[in-house]
Amino acid sequence: MAKKPQQKTEVETTGHSWDGIEEYNNPLPRWWLWTFYACIVWALWYVLAYPAWPLVNQATAGYKGWSTRANVAAEIEAASAANAGINARLVSAELEAIPADPELNAYAVSAGGAVFRTWCAQCHGSGAAGVKAGGYPNLLDNDWLWGGTLEEIHTTIAHGIRNETDPDARWSQMPAFGEILEPAEIDQVVNYVMSLSGAPQDVQAAAAGAEVFANNCVACHGEAGGGDIYQGAPNLADAIWLYGGDYDTIRETVTYSRFGIMPPMGGAELSEAETRAVAVYVHQLGGGE
Ligand code: HEC
Ligand code: HEC
Repeated sequence: MAKKPQQKTEVETTGHSWDGIEEYNNPLPRWWLWTFYACIVWALWYVLAYPAWPLVNQATAGYKGWSTRANVAAEIEAASAANAGINARLVSAELEAIPADPELNAYAVSAGGAVFRTWCAQCHGSGAAGVKAGGYPNLLDNDWLWGGTLEEIHTTIAHGIRNETDPDARWSQMPAFGEILEPAEIDQVVNYVMSLSGAPQDVQAAAAGAEVFANNCVACHGEAGGGDIYQGAPNLADAIWLYGGDYDTIRETVTYSRFGIMPPMGGAELSEAETRAVAVYVHQLGGGE
């Protein structure tokens, strides 16, 4: 069957013809064309108005002088200006009186939470529960190495612990008893330490360990192993452990000692307002005294 010839239309052809195939001359729809021209005009204006052409170091600036960096800087500026008043109050207030001032306290807790997530969470954990494997203390409980009042927490944060950078850093050092005691004595005192918190232990060794403890440990950890916040010596009787309370971990602690370091956060890192805010934040986490 022969194909029907294509219907003749009214549309003109361009006059071009390739092997008998002709090209229709269909104009673009008006609305399309005008949208297209509008886009060109808009693009030209955009290139002049905003950063557009990348150059070696930065793009062409554009007559509006618009910049994301400048916008962020302006927002930060505005936020600090808005907070300047309350930050000044935070710095001049009596530290221990802050929790009693609802407005100041609410501000310190929220600003302190932000500081904590930026500067502290990498060591203490985002929820402040600490990390035993690293000797990073839990800040949620009521067990304090260096004291849990606002003043004491503030001092710890501002100056840090056992660092060489801050002359006011908290400092103390437990001897490595591997060089002082016989292995048998270490075994005994480890068992004694476990008995203090009621952990299962070798009762005979623990009884012998009481004397080793009295001779070597009470100066820092106290008669009953209750600890000493002036030396950052942990309470050994409360079953809360900085490094761990199983036999092997305690034996490692006693043999080689530990030397937990926290950098000073006051001064270069945090302003006084930020240091106070994060101290209030840590204090209200649950364990503040
Ligand atoms: C580089 C890790 C590191 C960073 C960062 C760090 N800390 Fe610490 N922090 C430690 C260590 C380790 C200790 C325990 C030191 C010790 O053994 O006495 C500690 C102890 C503390 C203590 C004392 C706890 C107690 O029981 O007395 C407080 C409070 C504290 N940190 C708060 C903070 C706050 C708030 C920040 C952020 C502004 C912060 N830390 C940042 C490592 C860190
Ligand atoms: C000069 C003071 C000092 C003496 C003496 C001392 N300690 Fe310590 N002890 C510390 C300090 C400070 C820490 C915390 C170290 C740190 O935070 O890095 C500590 C930590 C510990 C821990 C870790 C506790 C935990 O929660 O993980 C144990 C266990 C311990 N000591 C047992 C002993 C025993 C047993 C003796 C005696 C044989 C002893 N210490 C003698 C100061 C002392």
